[in-house]
Amino acid sequence: MNSVAKDARASGAKVGLEAETIIIRGGRPLTGRIDVKGAKNLVTKAMVAAILGDTPSTLRDVPAISDVQVVRGLLEVHGVTVTDGDPGELIFDPSRVESAHMVDIDAHAGSSRIPILFCGPLLHRLGEAFIPDLGGCRIGDRPIDFHLEVLAQFGAVVEKLPSGIRLSAPERLRGTKISLPYPSVGATEQVLLTSVLAEGKTELAGAAIEPEIMDLINILQKMGAIISVDTDRVIRIEGVSKLKGYSHRALFDRNEAASWASAALATEGDIFVGGAKQEELLTFLNIFRKVGGAFDIADDGIRFYHPGGELKPVVVETDVHPGFMTDWQQPLVVALTKAQGVSIVHETVYEQRFGFVEALVQMGANIQLHSECLGSSPCRFGQRNFVHSAVISGPTPLHGADIEIPDLRGGFSHLIAALTAEGTSRVSNVGIISRGYENFITKLQQLGADFSLEA
Ligand code: EPU
Repeated sequence: MNSVAKDARASGAKVGLEAETIIIRGGRPLTGRIDVKGAKNLVTKAMVAAILGDTPSTLRDVPAISDVQVVRGLLEVHGVTVTDGDPGELIFDPSRVESAHMVDIDAHAGSSRIPILFCGPLLHRLGEAFIPDLGGCRIGDRPIDFHLEVLAQFGAVVEKLPSGIRLSAPERLRGTKISLPYPSVGATEQVLLTSVLAEGKTELAGAAIEPEIMDLINILQKMGAIISVDTDRVIRIEGVSKLKGYSHRALFDRNEAASWASAALATEGDIFVGGAKQEELLTFLNIFRKVGGAFDIADDGIRFYHPGGELKPVVVETDVHPGFMTDWQQPLVVALTKAQGVSIVHETVYEQRFGFVEALVQMGANIQLHSECLGSSPCRFGQRNFVHSAVISGPTPLHGADIEIPDLRGGFSHLIAALTAEGTSRVSNVGIISRGYENFITKLQQLGADFSLEA
């Protein structure tokens, strides 16, 4: 079963897309206003954090995306009651948390890696947790070794079973001193979600400090946790014996905002992204401006547009926050095919995140991939033969093609490519986009795209 079908099964398909293929007639600038809601990469974790409280939690600005449906299903199989409040609001009652069977977790998880983050909270509440075999992913191996090592350091017993992994906590988990070999977002969240109820103090060095992590810390503090973020990526947590529920409005989705910004630039359009904020997009905005894009920052959002004239090439290295985020490069690469000259993108977060380039080349882009580090600083993939640098020579007009979406961000870049291309494109596997982009079909309509859907 492919990941989309698995996600659709997991989500109840309410927010998923029935159509599998979108036929796009390219060449029209995208213009108009769309709004972004809470960040996928915060909302899904905030939902898990609700398990830690002994009273209900309320989360606002929850986007209608299938990853949220997946986590909702997982919470429900673990006995958490999830109800809809006002539009975009979810209420979680964790008073009857219970163990779930591996097969049910697997059925609800789809291709998502989120079951890993249930471990800390479930070990505190129930003394055990299960992780099913996690599906493969086309952006690299995406191992979970940091997560398992961290949980073991807190005192969890890790047992490999044929169908997945069982974790147990024979006694209350204890605070510990951890140093991550790489500032992993997921492993940092794992430490936060586990340490807050552990006995004693935890010190985490080498932590990720993405805005979504800071917002998760805001939530945990509202619940009663004691967490300080020091300089140099050190986070200190003083464990407490109980936490209450939270009420929180999620941070906006800066990855969705950056995706629509690149769509505006590549299609020579003009998009106002309601809900986007400057601070979390600072690094993106600098590169957007260097490429030749323009933006106006308002209190309620940011207008991104192509001001006319030629786009300019750039050298970009993806990095952990506050660097240029890995999820921003794929949509931007489409705009870079229109720039006059040679651009370089050096991907330093994931070892294989250029799978989407093949389709762009098929559409007429001139992109060469390399295993050397082509940015200014060598990264941990340089000596390991991973194809992780791209050289984009432009401008090259794109033409329509039949393409298949490989993953979420690469998939969005395919949509943009088809929207800029001359002629008609058939883009299949499009349902995957609804994992992380709320109502993207309606948004494309609002922005004047010319397309039709095929079941
Ligand atoms: N890594 C390990 N071992 C681990 C965990 C991570 O080697 O146990 C490596 C990864 O293989 C990768 C690097 O560390 O090379 C960074 O991975 P990280 O743990 O930071 O990523 P993640 O938590 O799995 C989240 C987002 C990603 C986003 C990255 C980086 C969620 C659900 N996912 O992934 O978002 O790209 O952080 O910021 O929060 C997306 O939204 O499409 C997406 C992939």
